[in-house]
Amino acid sequence: MSVVINEVSDRILTVTINRPDKLNALNPEVMEGLAAAFESARGDEAVGAVILTGAGEKAFIAGADVTIFRTFTPVSARAFARKGQALLDTIETLGKPVIAAVNGFALGGGCEVALACTLRVASKTARLGQPEVNLGIIPGYGGSQRLPRLVGKGRALEMLLTGDMVSADEAWRIGLVNRVVEPAELLPASREILKKILAKAPVAIRCVLDAVNAGLDMPFAVAEDHEATLFGLCVATDDMKEGVSAFLEKRPAKFTGK
Ligand code: COA
Repeated sequence: MSVVINEVSDRILTVTINRPDKLNALNPEVMEGLAAAFESARGDEAVGAVILTGAGEKAFIAGADVTIFRTFTPVSARAFARKGQALLDTIETLGKPVIAAVNGFALGGGCEVALACTLRVASKTARLGQPEVNLGIIPGYGGSQRLPRLVGKGRALEMLLTGDMVSADEAWRIGLVNRVVEPAELLPASREILKKILAKAPVAIRCVLDAVNAGLDMPFAVAEDHEATLFGLCVATDDMKEGVSAFLEKRPAKFTGK
């Protein structure tokens, strides 16, 4: 059985990390499987959105596979971090919404993967944290950058410095996850959010993702200029004409992505 399972239904690709006996820890095989899944999802027109989750009831991803750490040199560890960062950048800039369905522990690299997703839906049993300092290291998959951008510098520093895990409810309170649901509702609730997004104008959805993701890395004035360009692009779409007409004619819009 593959360590990464991919299933498409109703234009939603569900990617499940399938290493439950090791709490879905990220070994090279899992990283390769995830890279292949997201690279193929990017160009696949049959895929409009992605749910990423972990097999079993205990863990989303309990981090990078710690057994590998013993073999590291400074040079190989840097390469390991850069490769992981590239995968998470691919997830973040996929151009399609990605939901992390956090079904249990999301620690270290697991929390970082969740941070790179567009949205995070957590089961009530989920626990999230960046425990790298317990191992004498720091996050290497962008966590020191994405966590403060999401929850603010003070809360991020507390998590990064103490290594403490937060409960799903606490993660919701600080904005680390978007929703907290019963375990049985995790995948249905994630699908419901994605179905809502998939019913909107596809070009506009891609432009929102780009305006926010690219814009946050730009100086404010440059980001505003980028936003205005994307706004202008949307005005050129059939979907904009359809959306405005449907509103004025008091009927549901039928978007084509053109
Ligand atoms: N890397 C490699 N193996 C891991 C792992 C990781 N990040 N996290 C868990 N595992 C393995 C355990 O070694 C154990 O394997 P074994 O059955 O062969 O001994 C198995 O998964 C189950 O984990 P276990 O620790 O027995 O479960 P638990 O319920 O007692 O504890 C955690 C759960 C998540 C608290 C604990 O596994 C943990 O702290 N994991 C490491 C988290 C971490 O530091 N991640 C960041 C790495 S940078």
